[in-house]
Amino acid sequence: MSVEASVAETAVIQQLDAVFPGGVISTFTPLTAGTALVESAHGGRISMNDGREYLDLVMGSGPMLIGHAHPAVVEALQQQATRGTQYYVASRPAIELAEKIIDSVPCAERLKFASTGAEATLHALRLARAYTSRAKIVRFRGAYHGGHDYAMLDATAGIPPAIAETVITAEFNDIAGLEEVFSTHGAEIAAVIVEPIQRNTPPAPGFLQRIVDLCRANGAISIFDEIVTGFRIAWGGAQERYNVVPDLATYGKIIGGGLPLAAVAGRSDLLDLADPHLNGQDERYVYFSGTLNGNPLAAAAGLATLEILDDPASYTALLHIGEALRTGIRELAEEQGIELIVTGEGPLVGIAFNTGEATDPDTFMKADKSKLKTLELGLLREGVFTNLSARVYLSLAHTDLDIEYALEAFRHALTDTAIS
Ligand SMILES: Cc1ncc(COP(=O)(O)O)c(C=O)c1O
Repeated sequence: MSVEASVAETAVIQQLDAVFPGGVISTFTPLTAGTALVESAHGGRISMNDGREYLDLVMGSGPMLIGHAHPAVVEALQQQATRGTQYYVASRPAIELAEKIIDSVPCAERLKFASTGAEATLHALRLARAYTSRAKIVRFRGAYHGGHDYAMLDATAGIPPAIAETVITAEFNDIAGLEEVFSTHGAEIAAVIVEPIQRNTPPAPGFLQRIVDLCRANGAISIFDEIVTGFRIAWGGAQERYNVVPDLATYGKIIGGGLPLAAVAGRSDLLDLADPHLNGQDERYVYFSGTLNGNPLAAAAGLATLEILDDPASYTALLHIGEALRTGIRELAEEQGIELIVTGEGPLVGIAFNTGEATDPDTFMKADKSKLKTLELGLLREGVFTNLSARVYLSLAHTDLDIEYALEAFRHALTDTAIS
């Protein structure tokens, strides 16, 4: 750590190291001992164990699109908590949340809840395999779909070779490459799973539609992983923004309002394979259940969140601050002669120290990561908390003044990066 830790901060690090591998609960490693533990978070601000309050551009890694501890969410949680926090049977918040998602998501005719995004993508792939009676799935190099085996090839130890044999890795934004994959393996492919914006790489024009068309022509299922884009880049997510409708889509983050909740939504003939009445009756029956799936507390938080977002003004505001930050960072980089790619839609902002095309996934994957860390550390010193190797997550709680503050921090931190 390059910032000197106080005695109290060192004690926190020791406490964390004693229980968590690497002292962290995720893979996100704090850059200073003073930002290893969160004390509280409100709106667009987060208070850390160093006693400082930071402008939060991490926002819980994405769920907190309307801000931390939003009064409507707190109220919904309090009300639901007094009625019980877990039933294993449907609840009013769960039905209302499902109805809202089905109303707003173009591909959604039915849905099943899960608790995490990884479970949602795992079950979407299973539904596709069961429906098509095929084993192979296609995913794109550099994509992230959660921590399960089918999504983590090359990124973790512990995956059996038999799993790897069922996964074909293709190149994002390479239509010819995907056509080639289908011409070689077409009859074996159950599904193609894609992040509509892969990490921070936008889709090339026509790429998402081509995925859907190729799947349809070859009897495979198209799955959009909208865990980041859903309800964020537009009310109807990437399907609305890019005007493409897949067979299935996965949701997480925002729809749980900061509590663990995720979903698979899509065509009813696919989702209906998870009808438990089919168990023992239909060989294509898909097991899709979990103790906490559709948990009423999480559903109440998600519903309160979507009720706030269900207003075109929300998306106008999110786009406005997103554009202001993207434009501002680009201008600062240009002024300082720094080669920087800035991408994003709505409240998402991706930053890469590199040159090249934004739609080339290597522009992000092969960018200079140490400069990104230097920038993050510089921003922390200026009072701005970021996880730039993921992306900047803005929220409705961030104001024009916050963007000005962030840009001033970027001005100083980019200078440090240029001279380091
Ligand atoms: C696109 C995408 N899919 C899936 C996941 C996995 O979600 P979870 O972390 O809830 O398992 C994530 C998480 O960041 C994600 O960004």
